[in-house]
Parts: sequence; structure tokens; C-alpha cells
Amino acid sequence: MTLTQDELKRIAAYKAVDFVQSNMVLGLGTGSTAKHAVDRIGELLRQGKLENIVGIPTSKKTQEQALSLNIPLSDLDAHPVIDLSIDGADEVDPCLNLVKGRGGSLLREKMIEGASKKFVVIVDESKMVKHIGGSKMALPVETVPFCWKFTAERLRRVMEGYGCEAKLRLGEKGKAFVTDNGNYIVDMYLEKDMGDLNAVSDEILRLPGVVEHGMFLDMASTVIIAGELGVKIKNK
Ligand code: A5P
Repeated sequence: MTLTQDELKRIAAYKAVDFVQSNMVLGLGTGSTAKHAVDRIGELLRQGKLENIVGIPTSKKTQEQALSLNIPLSDLDAHPVIDLSIDGADEVDPCLNLVKGRGGSLLREKMIEGASKKFVVIVDESKMVKHIGGSKMALPVETVPFCWKFTAERLRRVMEGYGCEAKLRLGEKGKAFVTDNGNYIVDMYLEKDMGDLNAVSDEILRLPGVVEHGMFLDMASTVIIAGELGVKIKNK
């Protein structure tokens, strides 16, 4: 029997929710995979199998979903240390480095998941890559809207050596996509692998106008990978 990609996402998400215990503060991820985890947490709360959970949503969309499921919510100001975050990813490399943000959320994810004692990433096997960011798929960079073309050009120059094209992400009616934080996203399309990811990360973050990028380096504690042949769990 062949499982759909969405069924694989749900399997990975449900497995991650096995790590959730009552009384935890939980980072709630964003995207089509994380949505299954949030649904499952809501279901277990409703059934009384989990109690006293506080959710910290990583996007407005997840906030809406969690509220609709009656998951009690709070924020990082009130809960600067999070027990466990569960979220999807766009790419995962063998060292568990990630690309995230192709769904439009990355800054809140990085703040919340970076403040987590444990960060469990849930993916279907199509997300596993040898090198993140080198697949001609976008590496998203959140920038301030002010003179975004200037920032995009600086970004392109920093990453020129990797065969880079920088494109403003568009949303509805061809207008710039706006993040939950009121920023834009410049998608970096690279032809080559980046090599030293930490060095590239530092260079990007040094550019004025850049708010954050979608490389999540050395952040995941565990990756749950659902595939046709079953579930694999990789720990840091
Ligand atoms: C949100 O922008 C992202 O970081 C998502 O976590 C990531 O894009 C994975 O999304 P899917 O689960 O929808 O593939």
C-alpha cells in the first residue's frame, strides 16, 4: 500500500506527540506537517490524556488553529524556556541541520525552537537531503521591507559564489508576501552547496536589513522521518 505524502507527515507528527507529557510548555510549529501535531495535541487534551499544556505558537496561523482546538496559549515573554517544540522542515541534512521558512514562517520559529530544551523535527522522507540549500530550492531570508532591493542585491553578492539568484517572495495579487512580523522574504536560489554553513549564516546575518534566515543549524535534537518502509528516528 502506498501512503500519500500527507499520511507520512501525519505519521511523523503523531510519533513526535508521543514525546509530549502533561504540564509541558510546548512550541507549536507551522506548516502542513506541524498542523497534524497540533491537531493531535488538541485531541489528547480533549480526551483528558494530556493536561495542563501551554502552547507557544510559531505563527498567527498556528495560533488560530490552536485556539480552535482550545489549546491554552502563551508566549516567550511569559515562558522563556520551552520544554519541547515540534515542527516540520523543508530540508534536513545528515547532521540534522535544517532549511525552514518556505511556508513563510521562520523568525518566530527560530526564536521559539531556539529556546526549547528539546526540538523534534517531523518530516516525510522526501525532505532528507545530502546538503541543505543547494537543491535549487529556496533558502528564505526575512528582510525589512525598507529598500528590500538593496538588501536582496547585497544578499546575492554575499552568495554569488554559489550561483545565486535572489527573488522577492510574492503573495496574493502579485504583491510582496508579508510575514507575521510585517517583513518581506527574499528567496535565495542556489546552484551549488554552501560548504561552511556557519560561515554563510554569519555573513547573511551581518547584512543590515536582514532579520533572519531559514537555516536552522545545530538546533534539532531529534528528527522523525516517516517513509514507505516505516519511521526512522535520528537523534543529535
Ligand atoms: C514554515 O514556514 C516552515 O518553516 C515549515 O515548518 C516548513 O516549511 C515545513 O512545512 P511543511 O510541513 O508544510 O512542509
